[in-house]
Amino acid sequence: MAWDPVWEQVFTSQAWGRYPGEDLIRFVARNFYAAPDRAAVRFLEVGCGTGTNLWFLAREGFAAHGIEGSATAAGIARTRLDAECPGWDGPQRRGGIEVGDMLALPWPDVQKIHAWWDLHGARFAGGTRYFLGHPVTAEHCVKVLREGFQRQRVAAAMHLALLRPGSVLFPTSAPAWRQQRWLRGSA
Ligand SMILES: C[S@@+](CC[C@H](N)C(=O)[O-])C[C@H]1O[C@@H](n2cnc3c(N)ncnc32)[C@H](O)[C@@H]1O
Repeated sequence: MAWDPVWEQVFTSQAWGRYPGEDLIRFVARNFYAAPDRAAVRFLEVGCGTGTNLWFLAREGFAAHGIEGSATAAGIARTRLDAECPGWDGPQRRGGIEVGDMLALPWPDVQKIHAWWDLHGARFAGGTRYFLGHPVTAEHCVKVLREGFQRQRVAAAMHLALLRPGSVLFPTSAPAWRQQRWLRGSA
């Protein structure tokens, strides 16, 4: 449903709860507390309100993103996370809260995507999965682990683990010298 401005009235006239529901806490704890690098786990909350849930996620070290139709609620959310969740929007986690209607996002730009596809579509084979423009192979994943940005390396580690069932997830947050040593021994 398109954003209803009545929400703006709600957030300017009454206080909203400050803590997330148990269901969310249980879901996140069960599925993500054991993540080797919580900063690499990104959550997007559509309709994040005053940031109750994002606050919890950011406090727990995850990357928290939100989109919210009410500028007032988004402002309350940002103020609280700034004050109580150090580093939530810093260079490592790069969390953020945008004001906008989730059903009318300015991106992706459909015309630009069509133009890009007209130019490049021919080099992609149907039925093949791609990662950073290349088929998902172990060699490509190791190359990304060696040369990619950290967020790409995290995805490469997951692809690699899926390609090699039973293998250990490559620890992208281990000390650099240790990662380099492991990578020297990789294909
Ligand atoms: C019931 S509140 C829940 C807020 C928050 N998720 C929480 O659990 O505390 C619903 C929120 O969704 C937002 N919302 C509803 N439709 C939206 C839309 N189309 N785009 C962006 N935000 C929307 C409202 O402004 C409101 O903040």
